[in-house]
Amino acid sequence: MAQFKKIGVLTSGGDAPGMNAAIRAVTRYAIHKNIEVVGIYNGFKGLLENQFRPMKERDVSLVINHGGTMLYTSRCDEFKTDAGLRKAVEVCHENGIDGIVTIGGDGTFRGANDLCRYGIPCIGIPATIDNDIACTDATVGFDTAMNTVLSMVDRLRDTGESHARCNVVEVMGRNAGDIAVNTAIALGATAVAIREYPFDEEYLYEKMIAGKQNGKRCFIVIVSEGTGRLFSESLAEQVQTKTGISTNYAKLGHIQRGGSPTLVDRVLATRLGCEAVELLTNGIADKVVCLEGNDITSIDIKLSQIMDKMHNNKIKPGDLDNLSEEVINIMRAKVERRVERKKNLYEMVDIISI
Ligand code: F6P
Repeated sequence: MAQFKKIGVLTSGGDAPGMNAAIRAVTRYAIHKNIEVVGIYNGFKGLLENQFRPMKERDVSLVINHGGTMLYTSRCDEFKTDAGLRKAVEVCHENGIDGIVTIGGDGTFRGANDLCRYGIPCIGIPATIDNDIACTDATVGFDTAMNTVLSMVDRLRDTGESHARCNVVEVMGRNAGDIAVNTAIALGATAVAIREYPFDEEYLYEKMIAGKQNGKRCFIVIVSEGTGRLFSESLAEQVQTKTGISTNYAKLGHIQRGGSPTLVDRVLATRLGCEAVELLTNGIADKVVCLEGNDITSIDIKLSQIMDKMHNNKIKPGDLDNLSEEVINIMRAKVERRVERKKNLYEMVDIISI
């Protein structure tokens, strides 16, 4: 079994509230296991540039409640090349780094998977506000981002109710409408538009006109970023034109990426961080740690990427070669349940917002 003496920890891609809580957990749990920890600044770019800092217990004090990432983050094209990966391996060997915990989203896991292929054991911790990692029920940062949307749009509702207005609000989610459907439910939105399903604009106008006639004053329409900026802006204009209801448009943008992580995200980040180190100390690597129901589990990084492809209907010929029917079926069933859950929420928004 590989003996881990020193591990690195990095954050990469878009930041997410709770990343600091994950860094803290990785650091403290590793120290508990007598493993040295090195913080790698600026993600994979910092790894290539030797941007290291030894992490002791007190280096992660007072960070659990902070948004952003104390190790900073970046996106790095060089890391996608053979030369970049070779260099990364060299840097790890020179610095005695036996393994790396990588915290981030799908791009981060692609990097981690490549690094594993080149011989550096990695564990991925899913952290992105989008919740678009298919193997886990929740990613670190998702809950905080949704709660931020909630508190922002609740404010819009106050003024919308006073003035009898509609607010069309664009929320984040590059390819996934998870933030949109969940916040739409929690906000009692009249409608939600996500890229995963077609949106019936005429139906929305009729529903709003009928609502206004029976006394409804304030309307909230949540639109996911993935539908495209033009769609959400023009929807706001169309709502006003077609219903005669005064309508404002708001794009919440990067506000959703910051702020103090919620309890849910701090606990999730801590559990995933500890499990990541636990796996490495047991000689297990090349995994993504996940939340399944209330349990922390793990899956091969490669399989996690296949699940993402299944989820996004992007399976290419050859992707499933060398996998047993049983494994394929288990992954398919999980992905289908996830899609079904989102669909149920999507439909619920319409049914309960009369
Ligand atoms: O992946 C998280 C996310 O916030 C997406 O919702 C959004 O599309 C993207 O990152 C924005 O990225 P950037 O910070 O590079 O503008």
